[in-house]
Amino acid sequence: MRTIHTLKELRAVLNGYRQQGKRIGLVPTMGNLHEGHISLVEQARRAADIVVTSIFINPMQFGANEDLDSYPRTLRDDQERLQAAGNSLIFAPSVEELYPEGLARHTQVTVPEVSDGYCGASRPGHFAGVATVVTMLFNMVQPDVAVFGEKDFQQLAVIRKLTRDLFIPVEVIGAPTVRDADGVAKSSRNGYLSADERARAPAIFAAMEHMAARLAQGETEYTQLEQDAYNQLLAAGFHPDYIAIVNSRTLKPAQPADPQLTILMAAFLGTTRLIDNLSVTR
Ligand code: PAF
Repeated sequence: MRTIHTLKELRAVLNGYRQQGKRIGLVPTMGNLHEGHISLVEQARRAADIVVTSIFINPMQFGANEDLDSYPRTLRDDQERLQAAGNSLIFAPSVEELYPEGLARHTQVTVPEVSDGYCGASRPGHFAGVATVVTMLFNMVQPDVAVFGEKDFQQLAVIRKLTRDLFIPVEVIGAPTVRDADGVAKSSRNGYLSADERARAPAIFAAMEHMAARLAQGETEYTQLEQDAYNQLLAAGFHPDYIAIVNSRTLKPAQPADPQLTILMAAFLGTTRLIDNLSVTR
């Protein structure tokens, strides 16, 4: 399995596969891979002949006070995991390769409405950074299919919309969240948790399951449900950032008639910000 660092080499290799009529799948990541990422690769293998996993810690999607500098860089381990998972190629470009004129002078893709609120409100500029790099990766790899985790629910909505709006000929697949046995969603940022924080972390999934059960019973007092979950997380030692029940398709605040709802949560445990979501059909 090759690791390619330049666009020139990537294009040459992928052109060869295309000439052989191979279907190409893309799994965009920032590395520090865990079972959640591997499930995306497995999903891509089912949908394509060649799987390209990109590893790029995208500076454009990090805010000034966020963890860009400390984000784990684990290329060697990632290569081993991807090799074992049957991935075909790694594309690991440098920042200079993707942003040769620097971030400030680079064109940005902004996706209205679905980028607003929730993580978009807490992390200004984050989704423009994600939308820009994903559009670039789509143009560089020109995959037939691309796989993203449903764990980043708002991110997936942003990517689906930009793909539709810009008529990018890529099939976007959302893959289910992979969880530890205690319900904690796999995330690169779980590695930042102390032992005590990790022991508290299942409270997020527990709070969502509790809300989902009440929603499934037909409760429509969404503000009250959100408040109860807020208090539950506070009691478990979290500092909740947002808890919202939304229409799964539009991400707008849920209305009683909406058939498909999603609970979105972000909360700090110490300095680590965890996000998760759970969908409910009524
Ligand atoms: O979800 C991620 O890891 C990143 O946001 C992505 C999609 C690879 C873009 O940098």
